[in-house]
Amino acid sequence: MTLRSVILGTGSYLPEKKITNHDLSELLDTTHEWIVERTGICARYIAAPGEYTSDMAVEASRRALDAAGLSAQDIDMIILATSTPDHTFPATATRIQSKLGISKGFAFDQSAVCSGFVFALATADTFLKQKMATTALVIGSETMSRILDWNDRRTAVLFGDGAGAVVLQAQAHTDRGIIGSLLRTDGSGYDELYVTGGPSTTQTTGTIHMNGREVFRHAVNRLGEAVEEILKIHGISQEEIDWLVPHQANKRIIDATAKRLGLPDKKVIHTGADQANTSSASIPLALDQAVRDGRIKKGDLVLCEAFAGGFAWGSNLIRM
Ligand code: UT7
Repeated sequence: MTLRSVILGTGSYLPEKKITNHDLSELLDTTHEWIVERTGICARYIAAPGEYTSDMAVEASRRALDAAGLSAQDIDMIILATSTPDHTFPATATRIQSKLGISKGFAFDQSAVCSGFVFALATADTFLKQKMATTALVIGSETMSRILDWNDRRTAVLFGDGAGAVVLQAQAHTDRGIIGSLLRTDGSGYDELYVTGGPSTTQTTGTIHMNGREVFRHAVNRLGEAVEEILKIHGISQEEIDWLVPHQANKRIIDATAKRLGLPDKKVIHTGADQANTSSASIPLALDQAVRDGRIKKGDLVLCEAFAGGFAWGSNLIRM
C-alpha cells in the first residue's frame, strides 16, 4: 500500500511589531527606494523582547492544527526548521512539543537555513512513508532579528521574524500529498553567507555576513536548475503547475525562477514586500496566506523552492 504525506492544514504567525523601510532609513544609511528596487521589500515584522522562536512556532502550529481539525494529541512527530533556536541545545522542537502538551512520538530541529522548510518537508515525508510516525507538524520559525548586525545596511534591511507550520499526515489511496522533493548542497559556498559566531568557534551567537552579489548569482542559477530537475524527475510539465511558493529572499530572484518556468506572476505567491526574508518560515507563511485567502485550493499542484547559506537549496512538489 503506497502512502502519501498529505497537508491537512496550514498555519502561520507574525509578531505584532512592524518596521517599514522608512523606519530603517532613520537608523541606517539607506532609503525605501533602494530597498524596494533591489529586493521588493517594504516592511518586516520583529519579535517582541521575550518572544522566542518556540513561541511563534507554537502559535503557527495551533493554527495549523485548527485548520486540519486535529488536536495536538494527534501529533507524533515534530520537525522544526530553524537557524535561530531558543538555545544552542536541546532541540527547540522539544520545547514546542512540551508547550503543545505532547508527550509521545519525537521532535527534532533541522538546519538548512532558508531552505530549512524544504528540507524538513522532505524529511517528514520520508519518515511518514517509513511508518516512523503517522501525523507530523513541520514548522519553520525564525527570530532573524536576533542575529542581525543592525548597523550593517547590507543585511539589516533584508530579514524579518515569523513562523509557519503544516500538519502532514500519512494517507493511503489518495493522489494528494507530496509528490517528491529535491535537495542539494554545495559546501564550497559556506563563506558567502554565514553567521559569524557559534558555540564551537567563537562561543558567541554572531551576526549574519553575506556576499550578496555572489549569493544572488548562485541562487538564480541553482533555483532554475532545481525547479526544472524536479519536474523532469516526476514527468510533470511546467504548464501543470498551479502555484509557485518560493522562499522570499528577493523579488528579483523569484521573478527569474518564474520566468524560467514560464509562469505568469499571478501564479506566484509573493509575501516578501510585507514580511521580508523570514528564512525557513517564509515558505509556510506564504503557503498559509495563499490557502487562507482562497488562492491555493485542494487538488492544486504547488511547487516550493528555496536557496540558502551552505549553499543549500531544493524544491518540493505537492498536490494540495
Ligand atoms: O535567503 C538566503 C539567500 N539570500 C539571498 O538570496 C540574497 C541574495 N542577494 C541579494 O538579494 C542582493 O545581492 C542584495 C539585495 C543583498 C544586494 O543587492 P545588489 O543589487 O546585489 O547590491 P550590491 O550588494 O551589489 O550593492 C550595490 C550598492 C553598494 O554600493 P557601492 O559599493 O556600489 O557603492 C552597496 O554598498 O548598494 C549599496 N548598498 C545599499 N545602499 C543603500 C547595500 N545595501 C544598501 C542599503 N541601502 N540597504
